[in-house]
Amino acid sequence: MACFNFFSTKSKRNPKPTTSAPTSNNGPSRSDDPGVLGQQTSKSSGTTTSKSSGSAASSSSQQSIPALYEERGHNNLRVFELDELRNATNDFSRAVKIGEGGFGSVYKGFVKPKDGKGQRIAVAVKRLNQKSLQGHKQWLAEVQFLGVVEHPNLVKLVGYCAEDGERGTQRLLVYEFMPNRSLDDHLFNRAYPPLPWNLRLQIALGAAEGLAYLHQGLEVQVIYRDFKASNVLLDKDFKPKLSDFGLAREGPAAGHTHVSTAVVGTYGYADPDYIATGHLTTSSDVWSFGVVLYELLTGRRCLERSRPANEQKLLEWVKQYPIDSRRFNMIMDSRLVYQFSVKAAREVARLADRCLARQAKERPKMTEVVEILKQAMHLKETGEGHSRSSK
Ligand SMILES: Nc1ncnc2c1ncn2[C@@H]1O[C@H](COP(=O)(O)OP(=O)(O)OP(=O)(O)O)[C@@H](O)[C@H]1O
Ligand SMILES: [Mg+2]
Repeated sequence: MACFNFFSTKSKRNPKPTTSAPTSNNGPSRSDDPGVLGQQTSKSSGTTTSKSSGSAASSSSQQSIPALYEERGHNNLRVFELDELRNATNDFSRAVKIGEGGFGSVYKGFVKPKDGKGQRIAVAVKRLNQKSLQGHKQWLAEVQFLGVVEHPNLVKLVGYCAEDGERGTQRLLVYEFMPNRSLDDHLFNRAYPPLPWNLRLQIALGAAEGLAYLHQGLEVQVIYRDFKASNVLLDKDFKPKLSDFGLAREGPAAGHTHVSTAVVGTYGYADPDYIATGHLTTSSDVWSFGVVLYELLTGRRCLERSRPANEQKLLEWVKQYPIDSRRFNMIMDSRLVYQFSVKAAREVARLADRCLARQAKERPKMTEVVEILKQAMHLKETGEGHSRSSK
């Protein structure tokens, strides 16, 4: 069962037609975005949430994403015409459709290189679903964030298309094509061979590095807000790249600890502390990362309604198998057929538990997560039962 967007803004709002060039006065901001309110949680039902950053001292962003986008982002991105993308995707043919999410459908296509010379390049074209009218705001956030960020573990946005005309409002995003689809496919879809243990750790490490960059590696702190297996795309070498920046937010302004915002995210991955308070920090991404670590260990989705009642919620189920007990092995993905280091698996589970600390401030920073994962990759011996190292 796919985890679904709850309180997610996806597909809920009417897009406001705009000009074809994303502008800074309409994009991601630190304060809440009233245009992006999804269904509210019970804590915030019937009201809009606070629109200011939280209080109490902390470090953070001095510059804004829209300003950085104006400075450098729009030079990096190509502006496509709708007809160009129609040609690229054989008129958005079902035959080249590669996926569908809350935003709309995703198609594989080929476009000419920027200078018009040489072979056409493979791209993934995401087209805003006109029926569900899922927010121009998220489209714009994605253009602006991806126009600014640059890291080997973040998907590259090639360009965008925005046309308002007789054929309605058209909003599209054009990404580099990722041939190995998403981590979600490889972990949960039985049509794919199982992911070996070392590759799981490498994917976890790369994704952690991508998040660490967003949290601490830029002039502006970025909170990703939608970390989940289906948003971790895999390139030809299975190197992970985070995609989907529609829900990303800037971190709190200087002097503030959190951003107060409407709660959006994906059910099963969203931080309960954030759900309860609406206070968003980078620690909410750390929580979601912890959830995905358990998905990598177990090969189970965070929520599987088809399982017996006591197994449906992954985080509750794994608690029955304490990390230091002999029973711990029973949570491990049977598709690994014991080809993993139990010692490393325990370290990863310990790390996951720290990421899943109920109190947001007790969770590790992503830079620490990166270091612990690097160490876990060097643990090979098992010394236990029938499990053995994968190398
Ligand atoms: N750049 C890309 N290259 C190759 N495939 C992609 C690319 N971007 C998306 N896809 C494919 O399209 C699918 C749908 O992506 P999309 O982001 O729209 O939805 P999702 O992540 O499954 O769900 P949600 O909308 O809730 O985030 C992905 O799971 C992936 O298989
Ligand atoms: Mg996605």
